[in-house]
Amino acid sequence: MKNNIKNNIRLGVNIDHVATLRNARKENFPSPLNAASLALESGADSITAHLREDRRHINDSDIKEIAYNFPGKLNLEMAATDEMLEIAEKIKPFSCCIVPEKREEITTEGGLDVIGNHNKLKPIIDRLREIGVRTTLFIDPEDINLDVCYDLKIDCAEIHCGTLCRLYEEEDKKDFDIEFNKIKNFSKKLFSNGIEAHAGHGLNYETTKLISSINEIEELNIGFFIIAESIFNGLDKTILTIKESMNIGRSLEE
Ligand code: PXP
Repeated sequence: MKNNIKNNIRLGVNIDHVATLRNARKENFPSPLNAASLALESGADSITAHLREDRRHINDSDIKEIAYNFPGKLNLEMAATDEMLEIAEKIKPFSCCIVPEKREEITTEGGLDVIGNHNKLKPIIDRLREIGVRTTLFIDPEDINLDVCYDLKIDCAEIHCGTLCRLYEEEDKKDFDIEFNKIKNFSKKLFSNGIEAHAGHGLNYETTKLISSINEIEELNIGFFIIAESIFNGLDKTILTIKESMNIGRSLEE
């Protein structure tokens, strides 16, 4: 039986790859702002945009346009740099998710080294809190990260579930089960210490269902699969189907 903590689960839609598509032809469409608005109308609880140092997808004018015109919650994904903090101070998003960034990576490959970067993260998180922006750190589900999360007094931790999603593709589900239990236990520890647990990276309909069965996870952030699937089904229907997967997952026995 499930315990009686029956948290709601929210969906954040990452719209970076709408900008990837636009930039591929150096056109001014499709518009990330329009995608964000449609995502909101289709049931997304927030949208995420990652302003990378190299501006490979979302650029500065996208962020401004979204920040000033999007009626929903914007989660600004960013590296822990002074440049990004300055932008966050100007646009005051609903939340900031701090991620590691490497120029040569195709996508965010793993969670932050929160221990090695503690001194860099602290003033940024303190400042974000001061201006009323919710803070999230994107981390791997390793217990060694917990003390720093508590010390930095973050609001939320987003668990990198890319490994889990990769392992789901393997025929033998032994390693998948180990990773799943690791995420489940880690989420419980976050929850019992007052940090909201989120998860993201590599999720599709199936893995969304499975991860939504973890009661303590309160938000999923999904990008690439939603945008890719929209080619065939449309953004609105894809979001509805993802939300169905979340609801089915939530109702599963843990
Ligand atoms: N959450 C974070 C912190 C990310 O960096 C990303 C990838 O940009 C996502 C979620 C979404 O991952 P995906 O595009 O694989 O769904």
